[in-house]
Amino acid sequence: MDKFRITGGRALAGRVTISGAKNSALPCMAAAILTGETVTLHNVPYVRDCLTQRRLLEDLGATVLVPDLRTHKITAANVELFEAPYELVKTMRASVLALGPLIARFGKAKVSLPGGCAIGTRPIDLHLEALKLLGAQVHLEAGYVVARAPKGGRLVGAGIEFPKVTVTGTENLLMAATLARGTTRLMGAAREPEIADLAELLNRMGARVRGAGSETITVEGVEALGGAEHTIIPDRIETGTFIVAAAITGGELEIKDCCPQHLGSVVARLREAGVEIEEVNPTTLHARRSPEGLRASDVTTQPYPDFPTDMQAQYMALMTQARGRSRVTETIFENRFMHASEMQRMGARIQVEGHNTAVVEGPSELSGARVQASDLRASACLVLAGLAARGETLIDRVYHIDRGYEKIEAKLRSVGAEIERVRESVTAQLPPVETVTA
Ligand code: EPZ
Repeated sequence: MDKFRITGGRALAGRVTISGAKNSALPCMAAAILTGETVTLHNVPYVRDCLTQRRLLEDLGATVLVPDLRTHKITAANVELFEAPYELVKTMRASVLALGPLIARFGKAKVSLPGGCAIGTRPIDLHLEALKLLGAQVHLEAGYVVARAPKGGRLVGAGIEFPKVTVTGTENLLMAATLARGTTRLMGAAREPEIADLAELLNRMGARVRGAGSETITVEGVEALGGAEHTIIPDRIETGTFIVAAAITGGELEIKDCCPQHLGSVVARLREAGVEIEEVNPTTLHARRSPEGLRASDVTTQPYPDFPTDMQAQYMALMTQARGRSRVTETIFENRFMHASEMQRMGARIQVEGHNTAVVEGPSELSGARVQASDLRASACLVLAGLAARGETLIDRVYHIDRGYEKIEAKLRSVGAEIERVRESVTAQLPPVETVTA
């Protein structure tokens, strides 16, 4: 498995460009299942999860042409398989996003239950309960969800109240409702920017979605959807990660092709912690540590627009360099502190209380060590800690970071970081994307 070798202590300086949002590209790719016409997506990030989603679409029978690295032309005209297999879903739970589109367009779907992952059990019970409200018959069979549309083959619009905010649950139901008979109201819907991005694509395909981005989304079902062209929004979590990279190394970065207003409360919390963030223009931020230095400041993760769980690990790394005591509270997932123990090995003073609060004392001098990544955002946190540490850090299992960050080591090297990928074996590398012209 590939590793990253980082020699820390260098202040980053220069310009980085943000890639498309993985967590928007994944549902938008799944949305292409809703039509037999071609859906063209631009600004798809070159990350492992998008390669996995592409493979799922091709396994279902769709064709995916990639005229250039970040453009995907998806045509689900000849779908003859309606199943997302265990082998695929266990590597990427976002494959469950095939469930809503498959049952909406074909009236049937068989999707493996995702099982747990490093950060928590992550069930999909809310997806399934909501699909039943649209008339789907759903039962579990040998670890698979088997779903069927009601007699007549079409889902029926209904009012759905999510008892808990679920991002992919909202996305699955949003896609399913576009082809249901009648109107669906999703209440308690997730408000992440990726939901509004998906809704924009769906409306371009002929759907009638209103209110995406708010907690109540109304969908008027239509008979069929058509092809469309859409550009994926920038990745707000990658943006936040690079802001932290500037601050934690005492450098300064110009961050281009981002979308500051999607950052929700991240900018406000980082400013409180002593990070200077300036909006240069609607797609560019400038970030650096303030001359007064970093200050300990508490955060609690919550659904959008509050502080995102996907920035929690990166923020914790920053707090190891801040003066004072900060409390980081994780309310979304039950086991998302594995990066804390790895950073302790680098000299960070972090005390985990219970399973959802970490207390960080700073600033602490981090020293390079051999550490192991456990999940996507924990990997990013260890890279950030390695950039700030004295000496050399070796991070194992960087395939986790390849899932959601496009060429992160190249981007970091371009702004002065001393980071290299140590290839353990050819198989671990991302497969070359065969760019098949249309
Ligand atoms: C999405 O995961 C993101 N993934 C995650 O990003 C992100 O951390 C998460 O939302 C929260 O923002 C994608 O968009 C592909 P949830 P998702 O359903 O949809 C519980 C990353 O790093 N829940 O909003 O799977 C669940 O266990 C990834 O890019 C149920 O109990 O998250 C969790 O505690 C990691 N039953 C909470 O709700 C359900 O049916 C929020 O989960 C669904 C969820």
